[in-house]
Amino acid sequence: MATSDDTHDDSTPDIRKGLEGVVVDRTAVSQVNSETNSLLYRGYPVHELAADRSFEEVAHLLLLGELPDAEQLAAFTRSERGGRELDATTKTLIDSLPTDAHPMDVLRTVVSEIGATDPTSADPEALIDQAVALFARLPAVIAYDQRRRHGLPLLPPRDDLGYSANFLSMVFGKEPDDPVRQAFDTSMILYAEHGFNASTFTARVITSTLSDYYSAVVGAIGALKGQLHGGANEAVMHAFDEIGSADGVPRWLDDALGGHRKVMGFGHRVYKHGDSRVPTMEDALETLAGHYERPDLLTLYRALKDEMASRTGIKPNVDYPSGPAYHLMGFDTEQFTPLFVASRVIGWTAHIREQREANALIRPLSAYVGPDERHVP
Ligand code: COA
Repeated sequence: MATSDDTHDDSTPDIRKGLEGVVVDRTAVSQVNSETNSLLYRGYPVHELAADRSFEEVAHLLLLGELPDAEQLAAFTRSERGGRELDATTKTLIDSLPTDAHPMDVLRTVVSEIGATDPTSADPEALIDQAVALFARLPAVIAYDQRRRHGLPLLPPRDDLGYSANFLSMVFGKEPDDPVRQAFDTSMILYAEHGFNASTFTARVITSTLSDYYSAVVGAIGALKGQLHGGANEAVMHAFDEIGSADGVPRWLDDALGGHRKVMGFGHRVYKHGDSRVPTMEDALETLAGHYERPDLLTLYRALKDEMASRTGIKPNVDYPSGPAYHLMGFDTEQFTPLFVASRVIGWTAHIREQREANALIRPLSAYVGPDERHVP
């Protein structure tokens, strides 16, 4: 076990920087198995869910514990479709924010506003209703934020379409082709949950103080924004823009590795032999590259992946294929991490619920290394 204090003995605390390897609590939401590279959502392998189920069904599984039967799915879908509209206060708030604000800042601000205007915000019994309402609303927020940056108006939701088709049609103004809808749905399923990652842990810390649902989600959005976490999908596309084409990979990597810079979209705290979600998302990316006739992007993708593997042995994480996939769909690069939020809000909620059900205030200790006691002169 790596510790930052090799001289540990009885008088010095055992510090695990970044809580690496520390088991903080139990969870029944998902199992991340680094040895077998597998990820189970409430027992189901995520690639099976991605192949056979819709994102709505997976959201139901994570939020409520089981895959829905037909009646449960109809009820869940009804609530989700009924809550898609952006209300006037939220639209006015978004309009008031600068178009050069980062979309994650816009999203964080909007969730805060939704919480402040929800009369049930302090009611713990309202958790699932609050979560479904937020889940339903986020696509409109993201769609409008991307559109307004291009001088385009907000479009009304389509309640005859499923979650992913409606999301894409609100952003792009037309119903998506089926392979695109499918790839998007896959990305939503893969992003929905991943154990005690930094944003989920943030949500659990906030929840542990008995704070409200929206405060936990706002904090989680802040944690997800960083490049070492959700911001990596966006950073992958910036790297691709810098590299230009597959030919540019060796020199770009010389600079990045030579300058001790992290290559975004590679490496993982838990998976050391490869991220369980990558093969499924890579298939989706390949489909999209064919659909949009962009073999060049796939060539660049493979060139960087191969060169990283041969030079460092470090494998890609799910942000590596999802960045270019969202780019091909037509999303602005800065909107990639908000897409991650739209999905991960489901996992956060499942953990917030679990934390509340067996709560203990999360309050670790620290080892003081400042000056010895001294007195004010
Ligand atoms: N590019 C280059 N080197 C990397 C790397 C990357 N993406 N990820 C890990 N490494 C190297 C580190 O430099 C370090 O090398 P060293 O021992 O010579 O100093 C070693 O691998 C261990 O990395 P470390 O950062 O200590 O591991 P970690 O478990 O703390 O980091 C991440 C996990 C995710 C933070 C890290 O891999 C990273 O920063 N990746 C890029 C960001 C990213 O894609 N995040 C999304 C995660 S899903």
